[in-house]
Amino acid sequence: MIQRPRGTRDLLPPETRLWLAVETVAREVFASFGGEEIRTPVFEATELFVRSVGEGTDIVHKEMYTFPDRKGRSLTLRPEMTAGVARAWIENRLGDRSQPLRLFYLGPMFRYERMQHGRYRQFSQIGLEIIGADTPLADAELLAAMHEFFVRLGFTDLQIHLNNLGDPEDRARYQEGIRVALTPRRAELCSDCQRRLEENPLRILDCKVPACQVIAADAPGVDDVAGDPSRQHVAGVEAHLQALGIPYVRNRRLVRGLDYYLRTVFEVVSPQLGTNAVLCGGGRYDRLIADLGGPAVPGVGFAIGEDRLVEVLPARFKDAVLARAALYLVPMGAAAENRALELARGWIRGGVPVELEITGRSLKAALKRADRDGFRAVAMLGDDELKAKTVTVRDLAAGNQSAVPFADLPAWWQALPPAREAARPE
Ligand code: HAM
Repeated sequence: MIQRPRGTRDLLPPETRLWLAVETVAREVFASFGGEEIRTPVFEATELFVRSVGEGTDIVHKEMYTFPDRKGRSLTLRPEMTAGVARAWIENRLGDRSQPLRLFYLGPMFRYERMQHGRYRQFSQIGLEIIGADTPLADAELLAAMHEFFVRLGFTDLQIHLNNLGDPEDRARYQEGIRVALTPRRAELCSDCQRRLEENPLRILDCKVPACQVIAADAPGVDDVAGDPSRQHVAGVEAHLQALGIPYVRNRRLVRGLDYYLRTVFEVVSPQLGTNAVLCGGGRYDRLIADLGGPAVPGVGFAIGEDRLVEVLPARFKDAVLARAALYLVPMGAAAENRALELARGWIRGGVPVELEITGRSLKAALKRADRDGFRAVAMLGDDELKAKTVTVRDLAAGNQSAVPFADLPAWWQALPPAREAARPE
């Protein structure tokens, strides 16, 4: 049997309903903050990611799906979206529009990860980028939109970790600080980190090897060496968050695994996720567009890992989405079968979700199925009903049955109380 590639997933119903519901909330919330959706290609020129995400990062170094096309051009399945959004901004001259632009996206990303729970080779992100504003208020608005999204889904236990990554001018000083602090323990680092110690010591701080994480705890924090402009910027962001009552913690160790960040960086962590607890990551990237050959335009953004998000969705949100609320229409006999689809279509147009019995089940088997699959109500259509132009409807939660004229069915459906309220007391 042919199996799906390692690290990919089949999303099946009814879980796909959760994905759709989460995506609908994201679209609503981000649009209400002035966002518009952007869709960029799933593959891009390899060089785009090398120049933006950075050569020394794990993503570029060992996680990209890179392949030559038939003309020998090197292409890469996108490991993240910010680079593609920046490229699209430059290529489509989005700078000609009034700034800032708030762009959100949803879609699959690809990283050749080692197999682990919560890590997939194809995964989905929901993200938002604000391009063309460099103020602390822009970061605060971005975080407020993100926070609002989590609140709408009913989360109460997520933690926002925030740090100042300094400006690029501070970077060399900081790299040197880490090198000096960690060189005495060089031999205890993993082989990747020994290389990083020479090439890009900052990356040691987000090494996934536990021993390296312990050693990295001895490194200085970026903020200790950062210059005033970045400190003032992040202090401004913090003041806005405090005024809004959005809780966060300052995490001196947070450096993020991509090279384009400066100043504000953050992650959102779920205490319910084990090893791969980070639900969302983001930060400011004021040099990215210029580094890719565009004008000097600042940006800030985040991306949420949708696979992980769906895994820890609050029960209330999940239950509300998963409660099946359809009407099950069961025709009995040939004449009823001939009319049933037409009736169903009319009711569907009237706003009733109708699932027609199309396999010829007997009434008894159909009622059994209705129970098992959690339908809200069953509508039975036989010769008597056809003659009287009514259906016999059974409210499965309340357990009562009545005859409803064809034309009145949508009104009857709208008047049905939610299943929980209709349930008879024991
Ligand atoms: P990132 O931290 O690499 O940032 O990814 C963001 C989120 O995507 C992670 O927090 C995680 O939830 C999810 N994620 C990443 N890799 C995987 C994986 N292999 N399997 C499942 N989920 C995964 C970025 O991608 C930046 N582009 C975020 C950003 C936007 N920064 C500025 N704007």
